[in-house]
Amino acid sequence: MSKTPEFDVHFARSQFPNVCWDWAFFENAGGAFVPNSVIQRMTSYMTENQVQPGASFGPSAKAKERMDLGHRLMAEMIGADSDEIVVSASTSINVYVLAQALRHQWKEGDEIIVTNLNHEANSGSWRRLAEFGIKIIEWPVNPETAELDIDLLDRLLSDRTRLVAFPHVSNITGDINDVPLITSKVHDAGAMVCVDGVAYAPHREVDVKAWDVDFYVFSYYKVFGPHMGCLYGKRDRLLEARGQYHYFIGEDQTTSKLNPAGPNHESIACLAGITDYFEALSDRHFPERANSLFERVKGVYAIAGWHEEQLAQKFIDFIDSKPGVRLIGRNTAHKNQRAATFSILAEGKRSADIPQIVQRDKVAISSGHFYAKRLIEALGIEDANDGVVRCSMAHYNTMDEVDRLITALDRVL
Ligand SMILES: Cc1ncc(COP(=O)(O)O)c(C=O)c1O
Repeated sequence: MSKTPEFDVHFARSQFPNVCWDWAFFENAGGAFVPNSVIQRMTSYMTENQVQPGASFGPSAKAKERMDLGHRLMAEMIGADSDEIVVSASTSINVYVLAQALRHQWKEGDEIIVTNLNHEANSGSWRRLAEFGIKIIEWPVNPETAELDIDLLDRLLSDRTRLVAFPHVSNITGDINDVPLITSKVHDAGAMVCVDGVAYAPHREVDVKAWDVDFYVFSYYKVFGPHMGCLYGKRDRLLEARGQYHYFIGEDQTTSKLNPAGPNHESIACLAGITDYFEALSDRHFPERANSLFERVKGVYAIAGWHEEQLAQKFIDFIDSKPGVRLIGRNTAHKNQRAATFSILAEGKRSADIPQIVQRDKVAISSGHFYAKRLIEALGIEDANDGVVRCSMAHYNTMDEVDRLITALDRVL
């Protein structure tokens, strides 16, 4: 049996501009760094293809080719077909458009289940459908543990349920929810799921087919790419959804009919730089090249996940040693249980003050509700705007950086 290689974090870091490493950066859940491969693809697109794509003359045809490549690789990376993803401006807009595109299928009294564990992006747009007579059913988190209760979902599902909107990972707790289990329960009730994978996709592989999800959304700027969002939808679901773009964009044009903003050319083209980066990591760690991009990406996520788990363990050990500090979410570093995204509350301290103090040591963290305000309120945090202090890691963080974070935090806590 081949031994799993240890993640070469220094190789990973060498793929990014040096300036990234000036700070010990732990605001990855806000937005991740972008490797040189993405920057190069953006630069070469903008340098060499300063024309509208899609016409037959050389540079225009080339521009289209580059965009098609970016789009195709993003689909392959998550195990989807090209016509099953919509690449648009952000996750927030993708969910908004999706909600508008599905609502014609539903009638007054139909139900959508939404949890307050969500970032607002997978919440507000569904809740707004109440204006059209859709009943919004709350699936509240446990206020002590910040976890979802699956038995409670069983009780909430009914023959009126049409969709359940929940996060794969909360951008506050970092806890990983059991997407296949929840999805199968929702399907048994005859409804669909819309899963927010924004806080999951930077950390573990996305496998939409294995999970059988109807809709899965995430953002490329958290996955080492440009500021864009991806909406995966099962082909039939996308075909059933009503187009929200120009009238002449056919209902069978699944990749464009749900992107009324139109494509952002250079950003789509440079998405191929994300897979360039994963390919470089794969080549570095696995002498035997797996057959598909999907498998190679999966291999990279597996070893990066182990590395993240080690970083997480160190941080958890530190937090455990601090009485008066509350960790929101599971007290485990296990890579199947959580991403290395941590939110803490320090007794007697304002969350907003803490990042300001640690930044003197060039440690970058942040505080607030991070647009998961309903969750922060549900947890009984009095000043939701002050919220929590969040320290979020990515695979390119080092143990030394975690030491810097701990030393800086230790002075404040
Ligand atoms: C969990 C989660 N979902 C959704 C979003 C919104 O993504 P976007 O900025 O692409 O709309 C974020 C952004 O921080 C997030 O963390």
